[in-house]
Amino acid sequence: MSQSRLPPTLPAFPAARPRRLRRADWSRRLVAENALSVDDLIWPIFVHDGNKAVPVPSMPGVERLSVAGAAEAAKEAEALGIPAIALFPATDPKVKDEDGSEALNPQNLICQSVRAIKAATKNIGVLCDVALDPYTSHGHDGLIRNDEIVNDASVEVLVQQALNQARAGCDIIAPSDMMDGRVGAIRSALDAEGFEHVQIMAYAAKYASAFYGPFRDAVGSSANLGRGDKRTYQMNPANGDEALREVALDIAEGADMVMVKPGMPYLDICWRVKQAFGLPTYAYQVSGEYAMLAGAAERGWLDGERVAWESLLAFKRAGCDGILTYFARDIARRIKG
Ligand code: PBG
Repeated sequence: MSQSRLPPTLPAFPAARPRRLRRADWSRRLVAENALSVDDLIWPIFVHDGNKAVPVPSMPGVERLSVAGAAEAAKEAEALGIPAIALFPATDPKVKDEDGSEALNPQNLICQSVRAIKAATKNIGVLCDVALDPYTSHGHDGLIRNDEIVNDASVEVLVQQALNQARAGCDIIAPSDMMDGRVGAIRSALDAEGFEHVQIMAYAAKYASAFYGPFRDAVGSSANLGRGDKRTYQMNPANGDEALREVALDIAEGADMVMVKPGMPYLDICWRVKQAFGLPTYAYQVSGEYAMLAGAAERGWLDGERVAWESLLAFKRAGCDGILTYFARDIARRIKG
């Protein structure tokens, strides 16, 4: 990633022939500015209560895994050199309630999965999402009081959710709820319990996006959310400067790493965030972006491997240090050859 520094007088054609450097493969490799490596990948996976893997229809090639299946997947990811895995639960609708209390259950799917993965692996980071939507009967990320998603009371529960995950062995706490002040509250609670080494990756600039649709199918929250939307807490896709303010706040509250989400429609935000703060910066190539590429590839309309690679390389060019992507395992397998 670099800003171009053009000389004051650029030689013109025919002295300048940009195609000269593109003629041969060795030369193209020699002048490549960015590269995608397995170290750039975070692999999100879905876990459910069943003991079989079940496909997610709107995400071709993605499955909901059992807890044991998640541990197997993590072992494979570790062997491929993927640095971290992100966990999302498809919670049994029977245990969902208004306040998402299952999020605080030390035996919930996420805590079980973290423990199983930690027992099966030595060198892979486990990231857990902090937000109530997989657990609430209304599908929102926070608590509802008098028809409002309330902020401060939600933060108190989110802090408890983060502690529950840290106690299970989670390495990276990733608040995706977009409540104000949650990063600082989570940081102090973690430190107070001796979890000062647990990292925080803040979903710092997270937009109210229609690209999350397939994810909500995968975790089973679409029906709960119904016609509701998250525009009172997630950001307006029209805004860029506001993203910088959101990121600045999360950094001030103690975020170790920041994330922009969704990814490809927000590459300008990735670039601005990395330029402005220089912190480890990640993009989430979300479920709808995956579905567009994987769905078109399934129909033979796009070359799936090549568009996946190109889309991920674009994040590197935009300044990202890594990408959360459902393509992570496929790409890692390809890199490994
Ligand atoms: C939960 C959460 C969502 C995603 C990650 N964490 C959905 C949402 O905010 O509605 C989306 C991920 C994806 O679409 O792949 N708050």
